[in-house]
Amino acid sequence: MLIYLDCDTGIDDALAIAYLLAHPDVTLAGIGTVNGNTTAPQAAANTLGLLALAGRDDIPVAVGSGEHPYAVSVHGGNGIGEVALPVGKDPDPRTAEALLLDLARRHPGELHVIATGPCGNLAAALRAEPRLPELVAGVTVMGGAVRVPGNRTPHAEANIIHDPAAAATVLSAPWPVTLVPLDVTMQHRWTVADGEALRAAGTPLHRALAEMVPVYFSGYEQVLGVREIPLHDPLAAAITVGEVTPDEAPLLSIGVEADGRTVEEGPGDVRTVLSLTAPAGPVMLARILTL
Ligand code: RIB
Ligand code: CA
Repeated sequence: MLIYLDCDTGIDDALAIAYLLAHPDVTLAGIGTVNGNTTAPQAAANTLGLLALAGRDDIPVAVGSGEHPYAVSVHGGNGIGEVALPVGKDPDPRTAEALLLDLARRHPGELHVIATGPCGNLAAALRAEPRLPELVAGVTVMGGAVRVPGNRTPHAEANIIHDPAAAATVLSAPWPVTLVPLDVTMQHRWTVADGEALRAAGTPLHRALAEMVPVYFSGYEQVLGVREIPLHDPLAAAITVGEVTPDEAPLLSIGVEADGRTVEEGPGDVRTVLSLTAPAGPVMLARILTL
């Protein structure tokens, strides 16, 4: 499966990148970054550092768009828990939007797009190439809170509220789109022991991930009251790849309001994953440990 990942590398974005690198059926063709957990340039530096640790300098990383970062408390000042990664190669000279368009045109009908940050780059690509939906195999968006409370406001989820107009553009475009909202991602978590299993794996990449997650645990402990982390972004990746199976996933019309709410408006075309058939945390940890 050929994949373009658009992300705001962030700690759970880093876990999604590790998951995709570990999966034998995935070809990670390119990564674009967007402002969200940190700035797009910082997210690119974080991503390039992870790829350097994984020995994957072959994967292009392009810097994208966005306004100002906002989630410093949960992901730390540099987006990855203040962990210092090696300096990777330079970012690709293209913008994230241009990288996505180049990959889609080069592989018509094959490219799966996963967005684990705000949707600004995908919306920009749609504006630049209205035929983009005909060129991609499908889109998965981690974001939204449909039948559950939000995590940035009582009603809005972080990726969506950062750029509601972009999210509305992406969710209403004529491509096969799967939404992976907090409804399902908050249900699938890691414990501290899972984080420590990363450290025990012993490779530089696993150790770096293990160094990142305590900040994420602390951020969510304030929300959940327990030291557990929801696996938002790696879950979007695992659903796309097909390693975990949606249970309740109705086709809905999802409206995006100016305050970032994602509103269920009846039957529609957005496959909205509300639950899975089995716990995904152990599956994703096992996969990442194979890296
Ligand atoms: O609400 C969770 C989402 O916002 C995740 O993608 C996390 O990385 C942040 O971007
Ligand atoms: Ca993210």
